[in-house]
Amino acid sequence: MSNETIKMTSGEYVPIEMHKVRVVQKLNLLPIEKRLKAIEDAGYNTFLLQNRDVFMDMLTDSGTNAMSDQQIAAMMVADDAYAGSESFNRLQEAVEEILGTQYFLPAHQGRAAEHIISQAFIKKGDIVPMNFHFTTTKAHVELAGGKVVELFTNDALEIKSDKPFKGNMDIDKLKDLVKTAGKDKIPYIRMEAGTNLIGGQPFSVENMRAVRKVADENGILIVLDISLVCENMYFIKMREPEFMDKSPAEILRTLCDLADIIYFSARKISCSRGGGIATKNHELYLKMRDMVPLFEGFLTYGGISVREIESMAVGLREAIDWNVIRHSPEFIKYLVDSLDAKGIPVITPAGGLGAHLDARGFLPHLTSFDYPAGALAAALYIVSGVRGMERGTISMDRDEKGNDVPSEVELLRLAFPRRVFTLSQVKYAEDRIEWLWKNRELIGGLKFTEEPKVLRFFVGRLAPASDWPQKLQAKFREDFGDSL
Ligand code: F0G
Repeated sequence: MSNETIKMTSGEYVPIEMHKVRVVQKLNLLPIEKRLKAIEDAGYNTFLLQNRDVFMDMLTDSGTNAMSDQQIAAMMVADDAYAGSESFNRLQEAVEEILGTQYFLPAHQGRAAEHIISQAFIKKGDIVPMNFHFTTTKAHVELAGGKVVELFTNDALEIKSDKPFKGNMDIDKLKDLVKTAGKDKIPYIRMEAGTNLIGGQPFSVENMRAVRKVADENGILIVLDISLVCENMYFIKMREPEFMDKSPAEILRTLCDLADIIYFSARKISCSRGGGIATKNHELYLKMRDMVPLFEGFLTYGGISVREIESMAVGLREAIDWNVIRHSPEFIKYLVDSLDAKGIPVITPAGGLGAHLDARGFLPHLTSFDYPAGALAAALYIVSGVRGMERGTISMDRDEKGNDVPSEVELLRLAFPRRVFTLSQVKYAEDRIEWLWKNRELIGGLKFTEEPKVLRFFVGRLAPASDWPQKLQAKFREDFGDSL
């Protein structure tokens, strides 16, 4: 166990892969003319691009992580059975060993776990306080008749910052909310490790303990989302003095012991697929259990293939291996610090999950109603083949009156699937982002041409508000000649 990084003779900091590549997948890098056509065909929505047209897929770290040889090997010995599969027993043992929870419910992915938890505990008119919402979480809370209230701290949305724990919950706001809303209206408090939508920012154990205290004083449950807990643990170990000498296993246990219900997307935490809900409390387990056969599958597979169940069990054990944990945050830091040093607006300090470009700072000539984060995502794809994800106003659905709801932050997320990209690929992305920054005034807005009512960012289609994509292409050719 060590926190040290490897020092280069020059003194330069370079993140090092603590693994070697043994299986590879070919990539395509299309010429810019074809990329422009591809994004047009995709309705200027990076979710609708075909992967064959993408060079670096930085859309998400969900289900796109590299698996270890041990995971693949485990998949070969899976036990196919509708009920009582040995694979499930192995998963349950891994969950109990790593999270310290006796009861486990499989669900086909993270949002399915959110569905079950929301349906089991939320009544119409309830309020669910969170350190920050996640898109699918909010949709499920609302589907169950509840409302999300975000209690982030004043530092959380600062773009340029040196605050170590921007994912913390504001404890005073939590106390006020409990007082004004009434504890009976709050079925649970949700804490999200590695707060996704504000840039993969962590919360501290100290903060989680303070949330636990308020919860205990008022008899409220805590639900902990550990989908992104690996990177959150990395930052706890690096930044919270009490935990610098603790192992990731001890840190994870400390966090899990502070929650009543824990759930996760296995597409993230264990570099596999699937999801699940874990608890030490039998009564809470029973409240959720009957929904698994109804919505997911039988209790010993929950809609997940047995092969994935095996890879999940191994992946959960690898999720407390320091060399596995550190890889992503250290690569992300490399890109974020390089961009920041060039004055390119990016969320600092670097978080987990990915590098997050601040589209408001990048494109100050656009308003939220021009969808700057979506425009930046399309522009970056056009100039590089790098596919990122809009996390701004497009990711917010309209309010009841049909008005756009400007997002608090307008981000282009460049996710780092775990152990997937090499440093030269990261340097390529950095180079094209820098070129785009120098040519940012060429980028214009987007408007919807086809707009779903719920989670519109997934399949909505847009069009550029002018011929800015063609201008961008022309400038690219002028500067790069025949280069891809
Ligand atoms: N919680 C968090 C913190 C997440 O990041 C996600 C998914 C979920 C829950 C839902 O899990 O996808 O398995 O149903 N995040 C993905 C992303 C979609 O790209 O950030 P899921």
